[in-house]
Amino acid sequence: MALLFISEVDNPDWWGGELARRLPGVELRFWPNAGDLADIEYVLAWAPPHGLLRRFPNLRLIASLGAGVDHLFADPELPLAVPVCRVVDPNMTQRMTEYVALHVLRYHRREPELEAMQREQRWGEAYTPTASERGVGILGLGELGASAAARLVGLGFRVAGWSRTAKSIPGVESHAGEAGLAAFLAKCEILVCLLPLTPATENILSTRLFAQLPKGAALINAARGRHLVEDDLLAALDSRQLSYATLDVFRREPLPKDHPFWRHPRITVTPHTASIADARSAADLVAENVRRLGTGAPLLHRVDPQVGY
Ligand code: NDP
Ligand code: OXD
Repeated sequence: MALLFISEVDNPDWWGGELARRLPGVELRFWPNAGDLADIEYVLAWAPPHGLLRRFPNLRLIASLGAGVDHLFADPELPLAVPVCRVVDPNMTQRMTEYVALHVLRYHRREPELEAMQREQRWGEAYTPTASERGVGILGLGELGASAAARLVGLGFRVAGWSRTAKSIPGVESHAGEAGLAAFLAKCEILVCLLPLTPATENILSTRLFAQLPKGAALINAARGRHLVEDDLLAALDSRQLSYATLDVFRREPLPKDHPFWRHPRITVTPHTASIADARSAADLVAENVRRLGTGAPLLHRVDPQVGY
């Protein structure tokens, strides 16, 4: 009975230590040292090589090393009969909530302009409305979006959210489905994307969507790079339909050195650090799901392959 850890971006020592304490009876292996593939019953993975997971004949669990699972479903040979579970973890949620609050406040309080004024030693005007006069919208009101929305309500913003199904979150105006999108977007002076990447959401951040935002809106994308049509963002910034963008995720990561986003004066780039799967807490979930496989109890945070999140 072995668990194989597969990731080029997560720390194997950190995860190995936390998993070993919780799963003493399970042998831990670290890709590419998989040993006999027939021993592997559990995989904990971020972006495994395509075609790899179908080579484990006794695989019983595919655990994502992230909240997102698009990196798994991108594999055309993913063994769909094996359950896929994702990270839902208070530390992950807390960090994402901090990221969203930080960047919403940063734009709201015109910090990029103030920082430029300081660089120029210029004592200028920088009026800001109050939070209660500012509309912020969250695309995706799941684990992360709902928490960020509630925190923004606490900061006094006018908050709306968009999801597939309607939500009831105190202080948050809920909009759902295609039919609810236009009315939602019209309210978003600051738009935050926290959607999962699925065929239905890929390329959603496009000229068509930007045109439905109030003129001069700001975008924060902390979800996936493939939500954003990059040339459409540059055009929207040029035309001033959008005034600013903060981007944590990109079509290619690491963002290539020559990419125009790096040096754009109205784009802030962060290197996919909005949140992380925290081994200290997320290992509990992996261990619990391994135990549940043993007892036949329903797995926690199992993903529906039909909807892709
Ligand atoms: P959840 O699955 O909990 O929530 C997803 C939300 O998106 C739900 O509210 C869902 O609606 C909504 N949604 C999905 N598809 C559609 C659609 N077609 N139309 C409208 N709404 C839709 O995900 P999490 O909140 O846990 O995570 C969101 C994403 O954040 C992850 O998939 C990942 O890509 C990204 N992420 C990024 C990180 C970073 O460091 N940058 C870290 C962690 C996650 P409904 O509730 O009705 O189902
Ligand atoms: C995730 C991520 O999906 O870190 O958890 O992007």
